[in-house]
Order: sequence, then C-alpha cells, then structure tokens
Amino acid sequence: MNDFLNQIAPIWTPHPGQRLFLEHPAKFKVLACGRRWGKTEACAVQIVAAMHRDSPTEHLILAPTLEQARLLFDRVEEMLRALDPTQELKVRSSPHPRLTFGPHRLTARSGHVPRSLRGLEATHIVIDEAAYLPESVITEVAMPMLATTDGSLTLISTPHGRNHFWRFHQMGLRGEHGIWSRSAHSAENPHVSPAFLQVQRELVSERAYRVEYEAAFEDSLSRVFRQEVIDAALVPSLPSPHPAGPVCIGVDWARWSDFTAVAVVQGSREGAHLLSLSRTQGRSWAEMVRSVAEQIEAHPGARVVCDASGLGDPLLESLKERLPLHRVDGLVMTAANKAPLLDALAWQMEKRALLMTPHPELQREMEHFEQSRSDSGHVRMAAAGSGHDDLVIALSLAASALPHRIAGIPLLGAARRFSRNRTHRTSCRSFN
Ligand SMILES: Nc1ncnc2c1ncn2[C@@H]1O[C@H](COP(=O)(O)OP(=O)(O)OP(=O)(O)O)[C@@H](O)[C@H]1O
Ligand SMILES: [Mg+2]
Repeated sequence: MNDFLNQIAPIWTPHPGQRLFLEHPAKFKVLACGRRWGKTEACAVQIVAAMHRDSPTEHLILAPTLEQARLLFDRVEEMLRALDPTQELKVRSSPHPRLTFGPHRLTARSGHVPRSLRGLEATHIVIDEAAYLPESVITEVAMPMLATTDGSLTLISTPHGRNHFWRFHQMGLRGEHGIWSRSAHSAENPHVSPAFLQVQRELVSERAYRVEYEAAFEDSLSRVFRQEVIDAALVPSLPSPHPAGPVCIGVDWARWSDFTAVAVVQGSREGAHLLSLSRTQGRSWAEMVRSVAEQIEAHPGARVVCDASGLGDPLLESLKERLPLHRVDGLVMTAANKAPLLDALAWQMEKRALLMTPHPELQREMEHFEQSRSDSGHVRMAAAGSGHDDLVIALSLAASALPHRIAGIPLLGAARRFSRNRTHRTSCRSFN
C-alpha cells in the first residue's frame, strides 16, 4: 500500500487516519467515523489500489441507497481516470453501475436488492453506512460472497446506536476474528474546518453531535425509537406481495428551514409496508402543494392525513381542492396527540407490523428523536436540538390512517340454540 500511496501522491494524500486505515493488512476492517471524515475518499483509494495489483479483483460497493453507493463508484472512476488517462475504462450505468479496468471489475448496488446478489462472488466488498443496513445484508449476503475467494470486507459508517455495526466494531477492538476496527472524529480530516464543526455543534443536540461528528455509539433512555425498534422494522427488501389493505399517505408540511415530507404505507395496523418516502425543500407553497398532490395521485383511492397545525390548515384546503377524489384529512398536532401517535408507530415497528427497507435519513431522525418531560409534567417528543423530524412525522401520520385488519370471515353454521334438544347437538357437531 505504501508504494501505491506514493504513486497516487500527485493527486491524493491521505490524512493520518486514512493512512492508518489504508495501510493495515487486516481483511476485515470496521471504521466508525464522524460525518465528512473522508470515508468515501479512503474506500475509493482502497479499491483503486487493489486495481493496480496484478491479480484480477472483483469489488462490490453496497450502501443503503444506490445513490450513495454511486458516490463511491464515481470517485473510483475519477481516480482511475486521473491516474491512468490512457488506460481503457469500460463503464456502464444500468441496470447498476459497473466498471471494468483491465482484469478488475467494480459494481455498485443498493442493499435493497440483496436477494439477487446471492450466489455471486467478490474479492472485496465495501459496505458504506453499514450501521444503517439490516445485519442480514452483511452476514447473509456479503460474507457468503467472500467465502470462496478469501476476500476482504470493509464496513464503514457513522454509528447508529449499539446494533450489529457496534458489535463488529467491538470485536475489532478486542482483536477477535482478525477484525481491525477504529473509530474517528470528523475533526481528524484536516479538510473539515473547525468553523463548520462549530456551526454543526450549535445546530444539533449535544447527543446528535457526539454521534454524528464524534462517532460515539450511544443509546439513550430518552430515545423514542430505541435501536432495537428501528432494527426490527428493517428488511433488505420488502416481501412480496404487499400486505392487504389500503394505501395511506402522511404529509408533514415544511416549516421554516424544514422539509415537506410524504410517507406512503400500505396494509393494516397488524402488517404494513413503507412503500416510499420523500422530502422536498425550498419551493413556493403552491409548488409544494402541486408536488404533494402529484405523489398522491399516483395512488388512486389512497387515504391521506396531513399535519394541519399552523400553516398546514390552508395547505390542507388547497390539497383537498386539487384531489376531489381522495379522502384527505387534517390532524392538528399537539403535544397531547403527538406522543400517542409516535408511541403507536414505535410499537408497530417493534412488533414488525411495519416493515421498511433502509432509509438513512429517516433512521437518523428516529435515532435523534427524544422525549422529555416539561416542568408542568407534559411529555414532549421532538427531534433533539433543532434537528429535523419531518420524515418521522409524515410516517406516523400515514401509519395512523392504517385500519385494523378486517377479521376473517366468521364460521357460519346453523343458529345455535341453548336447549337440550337434538338440534342443539347437531349444531354443536357442525362446529367440530
Ligand atoms: N485525503 C483527502 N484529501 C483531500 N480531500 C479530502 C481527503 N479526504 C477527504 N477529503 C474531502 O473531505 C470531504 C469529505 O470526504 P468524504 O465525502 O470522503 O467523507 P465521508 O466521511 O464519506 O462523508 P459523509 O459523512 O458525508 O459520507 C470531501 O470534500 C473530500 O473531498
Ligand atoms: Mg461518504
């Protein structure tokens, strides 16, 4: 690796933490880093270095979303082009990004479709934001792909509570199973300015700062969505078909500096899937209403519940005008009705009655969603500090519109009579 770092020095130099990571020979590395530490950069160099060795390599990037996996893929492509401008590089972008460089190949996939990855082989897998993917993507999909190649696995992420990523990280700290691990603050990256970190510290809660920028593995009693609640709801891909039941849509309108979020679920309180989740920011109210209406129109007959507090009321009225064929209700969110709504969502997730594929932004919001008790004794639930909670609120509104499962068709038999005559005995037998 040292020789390669010299070769790449004209275009890239690692910071000290990246150098430690790159130079360590372990096959299984776990790096828990703060945001902007330089994870994507370091993993790109790790892949490019392997592609400059003689033996053919097959690399796979997995991340919660394809968009995220593509960031690392694009960085590898950029570095390869900068290092060897004359070497032929074959790149295709669909159905998923794939690149061939001499005898070496690189593919980027989202962790949403791991079933289709079973049976494939790789010499190296990088899992970005590994803490946000279900554990089964690592243990049941990635690890078997390396079994026959004696390949390497790199897990890199900001922490997300004490879940599987924390356990792998702990194994590394104890030196178990040949795992190397390290945790690192964002400040280790000299390209991250102290001023940027200072602004973040003022914007988010102390706990969120410790997790996101100091890479602390924290679970807290004040969390509304405990780590095991989030993990229980996560699946690599949604089972097919979706549960029987209506499509229900929750809308949380943007407030100052916030996002408008739309969550779409289908099923019942006993079993539902999160079909989609989106958020938009910085448009005029008219455009926002139009965009939300278009998303709703994609689901004819869907039930819609919008937050109607504050500005939400006139927005609700415009949405109703645009969607005369949909049932659109408003809910004025108060401290009193917010707590049961969120408790119900957490309970549904914990029971695995609401399943979802990884959505890192939603998971982050859930991780930092806290409850506190005011001096008057009221429970307050909100994103800690001035963090966002729009996705969580939209999802809780959508889930609140789900009906309870319609009971199965009752057994019909002859009318029961509670007398000692023959008819009674006959009707009893008919139930056996
Ligand atoms: N060794 C380096 N040399 C120059 N710039 C670097 C280096 N490492 C990281 N950077 C810069 O720091 C910033 C963050 O890097 P990168 O995107 O790799 O971090 P990350 O940890 O993946 O961030 P995120 O948490 O957003 O995913 C980028 O602007 C990147 O160009
Ligand atoms: Mg990154």
